[in-house]
Amino acid sequence: MNKIIVPIFILSAVLFCGQSRSGEDAKGSRSYSDYEKPKSCASCHTSIYRQWRQAMMSQSFTHHWDEIEYFDLAVEHAKKDPSMKEAVDGCNGCHAPLAYLAGDLPPPRPAEGSRANEGVSCDLCHTIIDVEGDPPVNYSWVSVPGRTKYGSKPGLESPHHITEYNEIFTRTELCGSCHNEKNPFGIWVKSTQIEWREGPYSKEGVKCFDCHMPKAKGRSAKMAEEGMVAQHIFLGAHSPAKLRGAIEISMHTLEPEVPYDGTAVIKVELFNAKAGHKVPTGSVEDRILWLELAAVDQDGRKYNIPVDRKGFEGEEYTIGSDELAYRDMGIPLGDTDFEGVPREEVPIGSRIFRMPYLDENGIMTIMQWNTRKLGVDYRIGPRETVIETYSWTMPEDIAFGKVTITATLNYRKLVKPVAEFLNVPADESEIDMINQTSTEIVVYD
Ligand code: HEC
Ligand code: HEC
Ligand code: HEC
Ligand code: HEC
Ligand code: HEC
Repeated sequence: MNKIIVPIFILSAVLFCGQSRSGEDAKGSRSYSDYEKPKSCASCHTSIYRQWRQAMMSQSFTHHWDEIEYFDLAVEHAKKDPSMKEAVDGCNGCHAPLAYLAGDLPPPRPAEGSRANEGVSCDLCHTIIDVEGDPPVNYSWVSVPGRTKYGSKPGLESPHHITEYNEIFTRTELCGSCHNEKNPFGIWVKSTQIEWREGPYSKEGVKCFDCHMPKAKGRSAKMAEEGMVAQHIFLGAHSPAKLRGAIEISMHTLEPEVPYDGTAVIKVELFNAKAGHKVPTGSVEDRILWLELAAVDQDGRKYNIPVDRKGFEGEEYTIGSDELAYRDMGIPLGDTDFEGVPREEVPIGSRIFRMPYLDENGIMTIMQWNTRKLGVDYRIGPRETVIETYSWTMPEDIAFGKVTITATLNYRKLVKPVAEFLNVPADESEIDMINQTSTEIVVYD
């Protein structure tokens, strides 16, 4: 280092120590005006801006379900139980980071058009200089707003800003600072980056960016040279295209022919071929993935086939039932007699891939901040294959001849009874079919 650079380096290190805070320490440490609006990047980075506008990243505060859960459940809960206030402010550390940094808590409703609406904005990500914690958790990013924008490519020049390479843009910790979350009771309510780290893709160096920000030939800015550009599409659970085929499915029967009073044994293999983490991941308290098996005989009669039990602890949460759950929504809603709503509303006996979040009474909750315990983790890990068996005793009224059996793997972002109860628009609980396959058996006399 030469004589001029050393003092500058020390000076900037001192400045950083004074200003750069992460997580809860950063609350209220900045103002909105420290950050540029996404629109100010759009004139040069037009495609990237349009991609980001379509992605959930720009809607993390304004999206309908976020607004409903935050304002109607979380903020109301903190009003009734002030010990929840810190955690409920913390929602914004990931969903409305500019509001969190500005200390504008709770931020105004989306309809009021405040800068909280920018969500996870360009300038928030591209002013991150470091991420703290191992593993990173709870918005532990360090953002230093200003003229310098950081990225993964060294040596770029821009007329609008100083452009600097920063190693954090090549590491999954950047994503993990918001995609891992611990609640006030010390429960890991989100662990996507940890699941990735423990899985096969981390060993191969296949990172979040490779699947969620794929590179394509083009220009990252109007005046830039052509090159491989990171697409800011962030496809996830809100993209049917991303979900479709994420899990591969195959099925076989042990006997091609079954006597009318016999039992058909059917095996279904499910392979997580596409996701770098478990499925479902992220908002696991809301999401539901389930396998339905149905048969249709020669006369067109339809039968729903329940899965065989494996006998592991907590298995009852992984099989479709008509039980009630989510009673703790009564706390924020001020209804102490609230009995809950049905747990999932999928065909009884379907196998469900999920991890239940349990409240202080051991009842399932979608209020992740109120979770005291996690139940059995029955999700499908990256590159894992799970086999489900169905022993189906022929019904008395079955017609002889060909019977078609269809296995359908379905997904919902939010369990339907909760969506209906809270008036969440239907697209949040619509069914996304992940995959489907069929096979045949012959029933003989
Ligand atoms: C006047 C045009 C212009 C505006 C406005 C602009 N940029 Fe850039 N930016 C560029 C150019 C040119 C490059 C270099 C692209 C290249 O050579 O590939 C660049 C590069 C970048 C990079 C890449 C850094 C790296 O090292 O990988 C980032 C990140 C970036 N800009 C962020 C932003 C953000 C955030 C905003 C809005 C706050 C913004 N830019 C506004 C022109 C602009
Ligand atoms: C969630 C954080 C995040 C947000 C939000 C975000 N970016 Fe990026 N951006 C990244 C990461 C990470 C990379 C580097 C990806 C890589 O190299 O694999 C990147 C790369 C870039 C690049 C360089 C692209 C290239 O490959 O040459 C530009 C320019 C850029 N971003 C601008 C923007 C603009 C403008 C916005 C808002 C419209 C934005 N970013 C929003 C994380 C983000
Ligand atoms: C500042 C916090 C923050 C950072 C950093 C961040 N994310 Fe996110 N991300 C969010 C939030 C909040 C959402 C949820 C948006 C919603 O549905 O409300 C989200 C949503 C997503 C989704 C869409 C999920 C869906 O349901 O469709 C993907 C994919 C994603 N992020 C990937 C990434 C990747 C890859 C990185 C690292 C480059 C990253 N995120 C960095 C906060 C962050
Ligand atoms: C090998 C490719 C791959 C890698 C690596 C990968 N993902 Fe994904 N991701 C997917 C696929 C496919 C889906 C859609 C299926 C699903 O929802 O699980 C997805 C879904 C998601 C979702 C939405 C999940 C939900 O249920 O709402 C988020 C958020 C996400 N990924 C974040 C990340 C983060 C953060 C990383 C890095 C730590 C990462 N992903 C690494 C392929 C990948
Ligand atoms: C550590 C960061 C972080 C914190 C803190 C956080 N979230 Fe999130 N939240 C995320 C990420 C990342 C996703 C997207 C995960 C996925 O796609 O599966 C998400 C997803 C959601 C969703 C589902 C969005 C959808 O459209 O399906 C809701 C609702 C939500 N969060 C509400 C909250 C509330 C309310 C709080 C506070 C009690 C909170 N979050 C705290 C990071 C966070």
